Amino acid sequence: MRVVRTLDELRQARAALPATVGFVPTMGYLHEGHLSLVRCAKAENASVVVSIFVNPTQFGPDEDLETYPRDLERDLRLLEAEGVDVVWTPTPEVMYPSGYQTWVTVEELTRVLEGAYRPGHFRGVTTVVSKLFLGVWPHRAYFGQKDAQQARVLLQMVRDLNFPIEVVVCPTVREPDGLAMSSRNTYLNPEERRAATVLYRALQAAQAAYDAGERDAEALRQRMREVLAQEPLARVQYVSCADPDTLQELHGPVTRALLSLAVFIGNTRLIDNVLLGYPGGVYPRYTPPGMDARLRHGLG
Ligand code: PAJ
Repeated sequence: MRVVRTLDELRQARAALPATVGFVPTMGYLHEGHLSLVRCAKAENASVVVSIFVNPTQFGPDEDLETYPRDLERDLRLLEAEGVDVVWTPTPEVMYPSGYQTWVTVEELTRVLEGAYRPGHFRGVTTVVSKLFLGVWPHRAYFGQKDAQQARVLLQMVRDLNFPIEVVVCPTVREPDGLAMSSRNTYLNPEERRAATVLYRALQAAQAAYDAGERDAEALRQRMREVLAQEPLARVQYVSCADPDTLQELHGPVTRALLSLAVFIGNTRLIDNVLLGYPGGVYPRYTPPGMDARLRHGLG
């Protein structure tokens, strides 16, 4: 496994990789959720590249950039064991040299849900992922359904900018008690950790109602609120039943829906979601037009 830092080193390592190349962007402090993406990439490609970069531009001024957990040595051990070929660990100076002033923005989709509470967050995500794509130049890229809006926004970006990269969304990996794995779970004390299961319990209650035939958007949101109200440590930021394509809030009868929520447990902000009416509960993979030559023959 080669670990590279500069763009020069990355381009050299990339040029030596057999096609096709699968890519998993991360901010490190890896868990089974990240590793599931690596395994998915490994199963579909001859080579796998992982990036580890805590991207400063996607954190708000009052967010946890300084305290975001990091353990590069452990991350590299885990990736080595998965058979990853190249790990790219750029520094902030490599990604944002002084004088940096170019941004990628997806408009409508980033105004709602997470975007409404984290202004500038998705501008940071789409900009850094564009730069990571241009560095690694993969055939396929892998993202988690855990961050449903991020996945939806990146699918839109790849389509709108004609990146010749297939985008694959993989299912949310959960702890045995249902809590979605997240690097931020490490902030929870034992009492909060127990309370944090309320997010998935709320989603499951709404999903059960949907499976039993409930189709009213407000009734599904209400079901989630009822479960969340039973947990004294939970402070709800939003509860949503939205159109999975537009991410606009739904009213009245729904067919497909993205149920999502953001909840503070103590000082830790957690998000989770379930996607109703899609095979496997994930956004379908996006293959850009004309990808055949790149994917089948590994060209470019
Ligand atoms: P990070 O939070 O490190 O997540 C990296 C990838 O792992 C994302 O695609 C995320 O959706 C996925 N992931 C996280 N937890 C998961 C879980 N429990 N199950 C399945 N997948 C999971 O998301 C980011 O980093 C950044 O925004 C990034 C895309 C790297 C841009 O900086």
